[in-house]
Amino acid sequence: MNSKAMFKLSYGLFMLSAFKDGKHNGCITNTAIQVANTPDRIAFAVNKGNLTHDMVKDTGIFSLSILSEKVTFSTFQRFGFQSGRDVDKFEGCPNYTKGKNGLYHLTEGANAVIEGKVVDQMDLGSHTLFIAEITDMEVLSEDPSVTYSYYQDNIKPKPQAAPAQAGGKTVWRCSVCGYEYEGEEIPADYICPLCKHPASDFDKIVK
Ligand SMILES: Cc1cc2nc3c(=O)[nH]c(=O)nc-3n(C[C@H](O)[C@H](O)[C@H](O)COP(=O)(O)O)c2cc1C
Repeated sequence: MNSKAMFKLSYGLFMLSAFKDGKHNGCITNTAIQVANTPDRIAFAVNKGNLTHDMVKDTGIFSLSILSEKVTFSTFQRFGFQSGRDVDKFEGCPNYTKGKNGLYHLTEGANAVIEGKVVDQMDLGSHTLFIAEITDMEVLSEDPSVTYSYYQDNIKPKPQAAPAQAGGKTVWRCSVCGYEYEGEEIPADYICPLCKHPASDFDKIVK
């Protein structure tokens, strides 16, 4: 079995936001799709370790900014590499506004916003799969939606190529966010502390 087959699945990228107890928060997700059209339904999966997960689970209300190819790496840093448990992610964020349901969505680097209400959910182990109905949606621009592979090829900064040296240090670099785990082998159950992606998303590099 080759787990790299998962990399052949195509994904969009999104900023999922929520609001609870006076706090706005959001995280980057690559797992949102339309799953029905009569009525319109979308599904998205969120890691249970994410604050956004708990906020959506508790309130059932969310806003999904569909990211476009104009999105900058700083958006991923702001919403994907740090937790709302530690910072206010919207503080200093230059490009957001309040939607019809009172939640924040991005106004630049996003081509549409979908607001919704969770109608069902399933425990998937590491993630919860939320099924939602749409309460409002708007198109923000005609820029193409960003794909996960476009992010990898054009938005995520390329790591500095370090020449391999005999007896050099082995690190495992997260192909999603660039976080480096030091060690000859990476534990099979390792989860990236920054972006929560699994060991299979890490590439071995000898520096
Ligand atoms: C490119 C990219 C894709 C990501 N995809 C997902 C995803 O599909 N599901 C998820 O739960 N987290 C995903 N993350 C990780 C969360 O955005 C990240 O853990 C975030 O810091 C959680 O913030 P929170 O604790 O404030 O909710 C992704 C991060 C990046 C950079």
